[in-house]
Amino acid sequence: MRISIAAVTGILVQGISLAAGLRILQSNDDGWADFYIRHLNDKLRELHHEVVLVAPPNNQSVPTVFYDDPINGPLQDMVGSRLGPCQHNSCEEGGPMNHNQSRPDLNWVNGHPMHAMQYGIESIVPDLWNGTKPELVINGPNKGNVIWPWLQRIPNAITAAYASAHYGIPAISFAYGSRNGNWSSWNTAKRPRNSRTYVGLVARLLGELQETHEAGKGLLPPDTYLNVNFPPLSATCKEVEDFQWVLAGFAPRGFLDPVPAVEWCGKQTLPSEYKTLHSGCYISIALGNATSMAILADIVAQRNLINRLGSILSCLPAEKRQ
Ligand SMILES: *[C@@H]1O[C@H](CO)[C@@H](O)[C@H](O)[C@H]1NC(C)=O
Ligand SMILES: *[C@@H]1O[C@H](CO)[C@@H](O)[C@H](O)[C@H]1NC(C)=O
Ligand SMILES: *[C@@H]1O[C@H](CO)[C@@H](O)[C@H](O)[C@H]1NC(C)=O
Ligand SMILES: *[C@@H]1O[C@H](CO)[C@@H](O)[C@H](O)[C@H]1NC(C)=O
Ligand SMILES: *[C@@H]1O[C@H](CO)[C@@H](O)[C@H](O)[C@H]1NC(C)=O
Repeated sequence: MRISIAAVTGILVQGISLAAGLRILQSNDDGWADFYIRHLNDKLRELHHEVVLVAPPNNQSVPTVFYDDPINGPLQDMVGSRLGPCQHNSCEEGGPMNHNQSRPDLNWVNGHPMHAMQYGIESIVPDLWNGTKPELVINGPNKGNVIWPWLQRIPNAITAAYASAHYGIPAISFAYGSRNGNWSSWNTAKRPRNSRTYVGLVARLLGELQETHEAGKGLLPPDTYLNVNFPPLSATCKEVEDFQWVLAGFAPRGFLDPVPAVEWCGKQTLPSEYKTLHSGCYISIALGNATSMAILADIVAQRNLINRLGSILSCLPAEKRQ
């Protein structure tokens, strides 16, 4: 009985919430008390989204081969109780998971980012939202760009693909050039300057996706995830308006190789993420296939995304021969 009421409530809430805001599960691999994830959390709430944050208690951004088959394989057992406090003394020692006592929407799970995602989707979010699922997963913004060949090893991207492939929840991974990396705590007085720009860029993309979203469909094509990389800021590339958005591909052979894909910008290929990030003030957006992780989503899905984001997408300037 309880379940059926929850399911009905879920449908109603979903119908209404698309106009007003989205139900978002937020995570990262830099830790739940990292400045950037909290700054974005504030911004998303300000934009009237409902957000539950579930992330590891400390920095887990180390490239990992923890899972042989991260998307399809079983999860390893979760790490047990914490032996010390969370990063920046943001929690006390002990317990496998907990939340901010005055903000139950701010949670940590003592494990790999994949555990945080799993517990978030399967237990924390349903408890807080009467059994309804998130409509979107957002990871980051995370320190350090995530491009081939790190795609399959950096948790920020893996957990996004996992949310989409396992749970059918559209997911986006955001990462920024680590030259700007800043390990400030959520409550720092010295706010890292680049965060305002990155948070503004996330809001810009999200607004565009919401605006072009068709009722009854997911926010992204089924079984896909977005891997979005922001370049480091510079003197001429520092405000939200300075950036251009470029549809990019994962380059499995070489960093600079164009990737055979959809016809776009006068070619049958997409520029690689690396090339895009090294061409100036360009953000790379790559639409990944969530079930096979390391390959791009098919042409139909790419077309769908181009139709949706057409008004913000740009092409790179004519590519020079290497
Ligand atoms: C977080 O982990 C990454 C990858 O291991 C490392 O490069 C970085 O220095 C760590 N940051 C902190 C604050 O420990
Ligand atoms: C917990 O929430 C309170 C109230 O919003 C806030 O003042 C505090 O900084 C938060 N602490 C952490 C670690 O999230
Ligand atoms: C969940 O149910 C409670 C109690 O009925 C209600 O106050 C709250 O708004 C509901 N939340 C969602 C996300 O449906
Ligand atoms: C983060 O950035 C701010 C502003 O640029 C700076 O004052 C602060 O020292 C940095 N903190 C760390 C831990 O790097
Ligand atoms: C993802 O890849 C699998 C295996 O190649 C394929 O069957 C499926 O259609 C692809 N899905 C998308 C959305 O690209």
